[in-house]
Amino acid sequence: MIIPVILSGGAGTRLWPVSREDHPKPFMRLPDGQSLLLKTYLRAAGLIADGGEIVTVTNREHYFESKDHFAEAELAGRRARFLLEPQGRNTAPAIAVAALALAAEYGEDVVLVVMAADHLIHDLSGFKTATEHAVTLAQQGYLVTYGVRPTAPETGFGYIEAGKQIDEWGGCQVYQFVEKPDRATAQEYLNSGRFLWNSGMFCFTAGSLIRELHTHAPDLIEQARICIEHSPLQNTSGVALQELHGSSFASLPDISIDYAVMERSSRVAMVPAAFDWSDIGSWTALRQLVEPDSELNRAHGNAIFIDSRNTYVQTQGRLVATVGVDDLIVVETDDAVLVAHADRAQDVRQVAKRLKLEN
Ligand code: GDD
Ligand code: MG
Repeated sequence: MIIPVILSGGAGTRLWPVSREDHPKPFMRLPDGQSLLLKTYLRAAGLIADGGEIVTVTNREHYFESKDHFAEAELAGRRARFLLEPQGRNTAPAIAVAALALAAEYGEDVVLVVMAADHLIHDLSGFKTATEHAVTLAQQGYLVTYGVRPTAPETGFGYIEAGKQIDEWGGCQVYQFVEKPDRATAQEYLNSGRFLWNSGMFCFTAGSLIRELHTHAPDLIEQARICIEHSPLQNTSGVALQELHGSSFASLPDISIDYAVMERSSRVAMVPAAFDWSDIGSWTALRQLVEPDSELNRAHGNAIFIDSRNTYVQTQGRLVATVGVDDLIVVETDDAVLVAHADRAQDVRQVAKRLKLEN
């Protein structure tokens, strides 16, 4: 049995002012009107048959809004299950509780396909084929990642060094997994041609993940087990729901699955991501979704460009006009406006940080 597990959390501070703590990145709507979360749900639904189940791990404050986004998909026949966190503790605890909850119900051989709610993939059939290959390797006990061919020395990604090929579709063992290297190391990896980006999606059986957590993060998995034991499964209007027990969840360590397991395990394998993939991490990635004019300006909303080049404008209501400027990102919302140099898109996170300090 295959169960997609959607991770929806994180503040997405580089996408301020649209992504906020109370309205995080997965709820952001793209120029086609669909949110990243809805797109992830549709991608998950494509992996399973009618009657299958999709699990979402998210903050309890986002339960109703998540359900509303899923309802837009009008997918009868898929069952939704939510694991609701009292607070974000990063991806390792989120995945650990999902693995334990699903193992308790379906046994340790259940295969989890962990998907981030902040990615964009257009080629759904390519994604499905890669996942079928990933499932085959997961059933042999591997923790499978999807490797993306790198195009830049990004420091916000994990890097995987492919080793021996282990299937006929290009699946490989992973020699080395390095999460978020510094710039110089990332450049070295890129130059070597041997490294791929970790896409941030994973496939494994619940049992394999639990075993690897026992080896590499024993306190985390023990605490997660206590948490699940104290989090009864409820059924509200057709939705299976587990509110994660407050104090035991709060004592889980704040660590990502990449640091907790992927960097340490010798059971990691990689399938090539033979499909388009982007991580909608910053305004630079988002503006790519809009067609440019002849001067490379892009507008999502109401904008006028005069003698401007390579400028992105996104508006919610008001008209924005730019005159004689190059390389800007301007994002207008009801209560805040961002004006940033296109080269500084990564630093937008500093705005959210400053606001947090001031409040
Ligand atoms: N439920 C829940 N709870 N979800 C979370 C939490 C949490 O506390 N924290 C993060 N998430 C979700 C995010 O919403 C996102 O969908 C996914 O988990 C990954 O978290 P990010 O915070 O976006 O991770 P990252 O982008 O820094 O790094 C990961 O993704 C990269 C590719 O995008 C790593 O796996 C990297 O190795 C990878 O290259
Ligand atoms: Mg991310």
